Amino acid sequence: MKIFLDSSNIEEIRPINKTGLIDGITTNPSLLAKQKGNFKEILKSIASEVKGPISAEVTAVKAEKMITEAKILQKIAKNIVIKIPLTMEGLIACNYLSKNKFKVNVTLCFSTNQALLAAKAGATFISPFIGRLDDIGENGLQLIRDIKTVYNNYNYTTKILAASIRSAEHVMEVSKIGADVATIPPKIFHSLYKHELTDQGLESFLSDWKKSGKQIN
Ligand code: E4P
Repeated sequence: MKIFLDSSNIEEIRPINKTGLIDGITTNPSLLAKQKGNFKEILKSIASEVKGPISAEVTAVKAEKMITEAKILQKIAKNIVIKIPLTMEGLIACNYLSKNKFKVNVTLCFSTNQALLAAKAGATFISPFIGRLDDIGENGLQLIRDIKTVYNNYNYTTKILAASIRSAEHVMEVSKIGADVATIPPKIFHSLYKHELTDQGLESFLSDWKKSGKQIN
């Protein structure tokens, strides 16, 4: 499974990217709005730090304007992927952009039917928001399973990008289902490798080694 970071904060992204495990970044208008400075410069520095797809979202609501904004966003860096909301206008824009060689991440997906339409519109990624579905008492993980079934039925190449991830358990479950990508907030990324027994084990190994007076050299 590919791992994207869900962040617009280059200071947060840089150290995690040093692991070599980050395959891309997703941003959204709320995340970018929180950052100080020029949003184009922020996206440019993220896109040069991380080599994979960097999702940048349009803020227009009409297809024509979305396409204009997509062209502006695409000029920021080659690896920018245009994020488009799952509305009727968004589908029109996605269809146009996909046919014109843009990569599109269709976002704010909350149903299998929406995901079906996004695939038919040529989306490169579909972003089902599992945490926000859980928040309203629905089952976000079931949506990932259902989209996978539909995409497999028709051999759609649109990648399932599990979004709105709220826990390490979400990451484990979407990987078991077979999501193509999970976009993970930095705090949750750090929780993926931490384990109490790892810490305890390391502490005792190092203490035993120190007591022995031996050295690796
Ligand atoms: C994904 O592309 C979105 O930026 C993100 O996952 C939304 O997550 P949230 O529901 O925690 O805001």
